[in-house]
Amino acid sequence: MEILIIGNGGREHAFAWKCSQSKKVTQIYVAPGNGGTAKEEKVKNINIDAEDIENLLAFAKEKNIALTIVGPEAPLVLGIVDKFNAAGLRCFGPNAKAAQLEGSKSFTKDFLLRHNIPTAEYACFSELNLAIDYIKSRGAPIVVKADGLAAGKGVFVAMTVDDAITAVKDILGDKSFGSAGSKIVIEEFLVGEEASYIVVTDGTEVISLATSQDHKARDNNDLGPNTGGMGAYSPAPIVTEALKLRVMNEIINPTLEGLKKDGIDYLGFLYAGLMIDGAGNPKILEYNCRFGDPETQPIMMRLESDFIELCEATLNRSLLNHKVRWNKKVALGVVMAAGGYPIKYESGKQIFGLESVKDDTSKVFHAGTSLEKDKLLTAGGRVLCVVGMGDNTKEAQRNSYKSVGKITWEDEFHRNDIGYKAIE
Ligand code: AMP
Ligand code: GLY
Repeated sequence: MEILIIGNGGREHAFAWKCSQSKKVTQIYVAPGNGGTAKEEKVKNINIDAEDIENLLAFAKEKNIALTIVGPEAPLVLGIVDKFNAAGLRCFGPNAKAAQLEGSKSFTKDFLLRHNIPTAEYACFSELNLAIDYIKSRGAPIVVKADGLAAGKGVFVAMTVDDAITAVKDILGDKSFGSAGSKIVIEEFLVGEEASYIVVTDGTEVISLATSQDHKARDNNDLGPNTGGMGAYSPAPIVTEALKLRVMNEIINPTLEGLKKDGIDYLGFLYAGLMIDGAGNPKILEYNCRFGDPETQPIMMRLESDFIELCEATLNRSLLNHKVRWNKKVALGVVMAAGGYPIKYESGKQIFGLESVKDDTSKVFHAGTSLEKDKLLTAGGRVLCVVGMGDNTKEAQRNSYKSVGKITWEDEFHRNDIGYKAIE
């Protein structure tokens, strides 16, 4: 069969690489893809933007694509699944209504409250003065979030009342996030350790995927500005069997029941961002309606069973009898970024040394790269994710950094401590 993968990040490269191993697949198109997908076996990049749903649909019809897998949230929130389904095409991911779990923070908070799912206390505002009064009455620290999609930049953890007020003025007053910020959520600051929990659901059954954890801060020791993720590893020791049970009972299952009660049919990956307090109680910080990036890269390295079969079983609503097999090894991915990311950085630098990474203990997934003639150039903030495998986290870390050390470009930047918490 011929399949289409939508997106251009490290997540989509990992999907494409994994799908290329499926015997069922003869041809993979990635729209728009990157310099890494361009070079994978059976894979071809298609120059259509991930949010250009009309042209993606026309392409899928023309090629008679048997399965489309959507990587990023934006096309899901825009309703790509609804449009493909209406045209009789199979498309993996939640429909627009279900994707609101990521697309609108106020929708999600109201949903969580309605169904008694543990989360931070909150209030929603679209009027500046009311938001400011609320912040003054609650005090700091406090968290301000733009309601809609903001490419991971719409959350402000304010340590002072003044900072929180600056954030709401920025979002509601100056409209710095456009319509994504016409509403805001202000919520209680939670303390604890963050973890993520990713499942796949067919609307009724649910399968937990291999556990993983990412590092969101840019700099070593989890300091510096928040990013999309500077590295990730799987499994994540913080997600113990006891915690898994609590997350399933207190968060995931009530969410699936709540969706059913509200008449929302959720199919696809569901990513829960969690905060675990000192006593081990999980609360949900956010939902993503897709796989995480860079969590996908180490998770795909550990997936032994067929990824296409997992997607098909989900769409066929037959996850009940589906078995997913995982490699017992640890996979650890280090993101190599452009210097200055996530604030200000340059693109178009030539990348050297990739050909010297040949060992079978690591794999380089591309994110922001482009292939110009035979030159590989940087084309984004997060450029590569280098995944190493090992019998334990330390060995996976060593293998990953061994490969990282062979790759270079002007202004390259990476953290040196990915996985340190799992090693401690
Ligand atoms: P989100 O996109 O909602 O996950 O927020 C991005 C990051 O902001 C999270 O990964 C947390 O580090 C932080 N954050 C969000 N909400 C809260 C909260 N209520 N309390 C403390 N930190 C938070
Ligand atoms: N790594 C976090 C995310 O994909 O949202």
